[in-house]
Amino acid sequence: MENAINTIGVLTSGGDAPGMNAAIRAVVRAALAKNMKVKGIKRGYAGLLKEEIIDMDSRSVSDIVQKGGTILYTARCEEFRTEEGQKLGAEICKKHGIEGLVVIGGDGSFNGACKLAGLGINTIGLPGTIDLDIACTDYTIGFDTAVNTAMEAIDKVRDTSTSHERCSIIEVMGRSAGYIALWCGIANGAEDILLPERYDGNEQAIINHILEHRKRGKSHHIIINAEGVGHSTSMAKRIEAATGVETRATILGHMQRGGRPTCKDRVYATIMGAKAVDLLAEGKSNRVVGYLNGDFVDFDINEALAMKKDISEYQYTVSKMMVR
Ligand code: ADP
Ligand code: F6P
Repeated sequence: MENAINTIGVLTSGGDAPGMNAAIRAVVRAALAKNMKVKGIKRGYAGLLKEEIIDMDSRSVSDIVQKGGTILYTARCEEFRTEEGQKLGAEICKKHGIEGLVVIGGDGSFNGACKLAGLGINTIGLPGTIDLDIACTDYTIGFDTAVNTAMEAIDKVRDTSTSHERCSIIEVMGRSAGYIALWCGIANGAEDILLPERYDGNEQAIINHILEHRKRGKSHHIIINAEGVGHSTSMAKRIEAATGVETRATILGHMQRGGRPTCKDRVYATIMGAKAVDLLAEGKSNRVVGYLNGDFVDFDINEALAMKKDISEYQYTVSKMMVR
């Protein structure tokens, strides 16, 4: 079957995530396999507006499937939020012959993709964020690597915390989503997990919890705190003063966004990249690829953006049940 379009572009936008490179590689190679031309756009929408556009061939994506970060660089771009910026972006795509565009990023980036679709550029979004906070999908590129990185780091903090019989507050990423915190809380056996979606600010309950556990002979107390709750350092000082238990805060920060992607992130990102190209070849536009109930699927971007997602109450209950 003939392709609906001949030239596609690919960009990464918003926070980077391990596996983005695998997705870029998949887009390039799947497109080449269909005899399409591929252009890489550097630095997200900011680079598009500056015409930072390069031709990509099979060798441009050699040796990257295993690498963290994004070879196309990423950026945030205020100008692209404006109508003028979006019109200019669409004109630049047309000038370079880019008829279809794969946007790898989060909800914000999908908003931009949707605007370009309205201006005649066929767009497909791929969910790229360590936060897992995209409602239409159970999987986002980078989450698996990020939670594994954080889990390993927390294991290490736990060793020293136990040796010193301390309380440790470990802050993980997630400004408004607590998925990394919840998964690490379960995987690392944390005594308390503070999620932006659930934490009510009741520090006294945490203090009581620590004191109870001390009475029961526990030698450490691990608190996983999400970035969105924050204030880990001042919380540590208050907890130490109230409990008499030495307390330290560790903020894991951007190490969670880097590193070699896990097998799952490489494989899923590759399949999603290939699916984005399939959709463009079929003439589809304004779609976002997701993974739901064991299948790779696609949704209208507007419908995807309107969907809501919350922490699983069951998973949260199980996490608390494991603390004894
Ligand atoms: P993410 O894609 O990870 O959610 P951001 O929210 O920072 O990250 O969005 C990335 C970029 O997408 C922004 O810097 C901006 O250029 C573009 N963007 C975000 N929201 C919109 C919008 N409503 N309309 C057009 N472009 C947008
Ligand atoms: O990509 C998601 C994320 O890592 C969030 O968890 C975090 O709040 C945000 O990005 C931080 O972004 P930056 O420090 O790059 O502005």
